[in-house]
Amino acid sequence: MIPPPPSSGFLADIERILIPEARIQDRVEEVAREVARDFAGRPIAVVGILTGSCLFLADLLRRVPLPLTVSCISVASYHGGTASSGMVSLRQTSLPDVAGRDVLLVDDILDSGRTLAAVRDLLLGPGGARSVRSCVLLRKKVPRAVPVEADYVCFDIPDEFVVGYGLDYREHYRNLPFVGTLTPEAIQRGPLHAELETG
Ligand code: IMP
Ligand code: MG
Repeated sequence: MIPPPPSSGFLADIERILIPEARIQDRVEEVAREVARDFAGRPIAVVGILTGSCLFLADLLRRVPLPLTVSCISVASYHGGTASSGMVSLRQTSLPDVAGRDVLLVDDILDSGRTLAAVRDLLLGPGGARSVRSCVLLRKKVPRAVPVEADYVCFDIPDEFVVGYGLDYREHYRNLPFVGTLTPEAIQRGPLHAELETG
């Protein structure tokens, strides 16, 4: 037996596991089947929104046995806190070429909706995609700031700040295989390993 790797104590920052790893994997499999059924016969242009969708994107796509292309765009809306700043900033100047394509937009979470709406509108702009459907791991029960809905949703969650399976707090905790909440101390103190990085 290989012993588990040391966690450097960062698991102690988790207050509660909201969605365990096995439930995530089962549900991602189900959603991948829905996507594969709906897009059968149409090549998909998958666009992942970085960085939050990275784990979800990888697990989802390996279960969609259809011809597809993958590109990613990098967007920031939280800027380090636990509440949306209300501003969506693109981190690159050029968008993926999706001219005339059927796009599947993949993100970690639908919260205020600003990110998904902004990226969808950009992709549907002049010379852009033929259609855009969106797929999110989580959908928060909050009023949306803009009119937008996701076509595929793995889990509905209450209005709590969560980390894991791609979702971060100050760029950490993305590698947790589950989705959970942080202790108030961890939120107040910030990620332990961030202190290690800055010396
Ligand atoms: P929206 O634009 O308000 O819908 O926010 C979407 C983005 O905010 C997501 O792509 C996440 O990066 C981030 N976000 C929203 N809620 C959470 C959360 O509970 N934990 C971590 N990141 C979140
Ligand atoms: Mg984030």
